[in-house]
Amino acid sequence: MNGTRAEMSVGLVGKDSGHVQAGLDGAGKLTCLVVDDEPHLRHAVRRLMESEGFVCVEAASGEAALAILGERPVTVVLSDVRMPRMDGLSFLREVRALYPDMAVVMITAVADVDVAVSCLALGAMDYLMKPFHLDEVRARVGQVLEKRRLVLENRGYQIRLEDRVQAQARRLEDQFLATMQSFANALEVKDRYTRGHSIRVSQYSVAIAKAMELDTELVRQIEIGGHVHDIGKIGVRESVLNKPGPLTDEEYQHIMTHPMVGWRILSPVLTDRPLALDIVRSHHERFGGRGIPDGLSGTGIPLVARIAAVADSFDAMTSGRAYRRGGRLTLEAAVAELERCSGTQFDPDVVRAFLAAVANGGIANTHGTPTGELAAYAEPMAAGYGA
Ligand SMILES: [Fe+2]
Repeated sequence: MNGTRAEMSVGLVGKDSGHVQAGLDGAGKLTCLVVDDEPHLRHAVRRLMESEGFVCVEAASGEAALAILGERPVTVVLSDVRMPRMDGLSFLREVRALYPDMAVVMITAVADVDVAVSCLALGAMDYLMKPFHLDEVRARVGQVLEKRRLVLENRGYQIRLEDRVQAQARRLEDQFLATMQSFANALEVKDRYTRGHSIRVSQYSVAIAKAMELDTELVRQIEIGGHVHDIGKIGVRESVLNKPGPLTDEEYQHIMTHPMVGWRILSPVLTDRPLALDIVRSHHERFGGRGIPDGLSGTGIPLVARIAAVADSFDAMTSGRAYRRGGRLTLEAAVAELERCSGTQFDPDVVRAFLAAVANGGIANTHGTPTGELAAYAEPMAAGYGA
């Protein structure tokens, strides 16, 4: 075989993750399973492999061999092709299905060239033709073991690579959420109301999206978009943001620049989350048209923004926003207002989904702990955006 027995053993033990995966026995020796219904041929192969330092196990049939493989680690299988009941090809198929990493060498008669080719097609690593010589067996088995070692090594490398890629993706996601948190913190310094408002808009939007059975990625972007939808208020004067009384027209126009300001701020960091960016830009569009900043209407407004508009308005109505004219509304009054404005300011489908979310407990009627499906989102958001 290629190299000495000692080299073979060291090579496999050192590079596989463990004895079982390497097919070594308890003492760390390579194990060979010889499968042949003819005892004298089986014994001959066994003696040959034992002389090469293998621990050998014999099986007189494919069925018996499968039973052995289920009980103990094996490094390489040498199997005859022609056997009664389960023939060598059937046995090979079973082994490949159950033990894809098993090194299998098939033994064929000279006349069975086509069968030998079939063996390779089914995943045998090599084949031997009778009659074979000691040197030939040594060389073939050595090559097979080396091939198997490389396959296992390559697989281990791929697994480690995938782990690294996943870890890197997690780091990037964490960094992204931290960036969003930084933006939220920056706004919170100017406008303490916004944080609670943004969290609630995110929760309400998620509840509506779930009631509409939108897919997970969409819901995730809606959750993020809700958190940062008002980030453009960083550019609004504090005297306007925190004004206790009603706003003048100029002040209202000033505050309503925030969707475009937010869109400009977040465009570079939300390139992979365009729907979240749509929420930032278009959450003050009106379903009937004449909203800001683009005067879109109907389904021309991104769905995520139509959802956020309902969530945003509901929260504005049920919380004591400084510049809101009129007082805080009850849940019932706010719902009635959403229904009244359905089709003009709000998408009727979204309002219906909102009502469904209210009915199933997805929308809390206080600003306390969310209930129903929102509860599942409360913890990740607290973790992602901090208190
Ligand atoms: Fe807004």
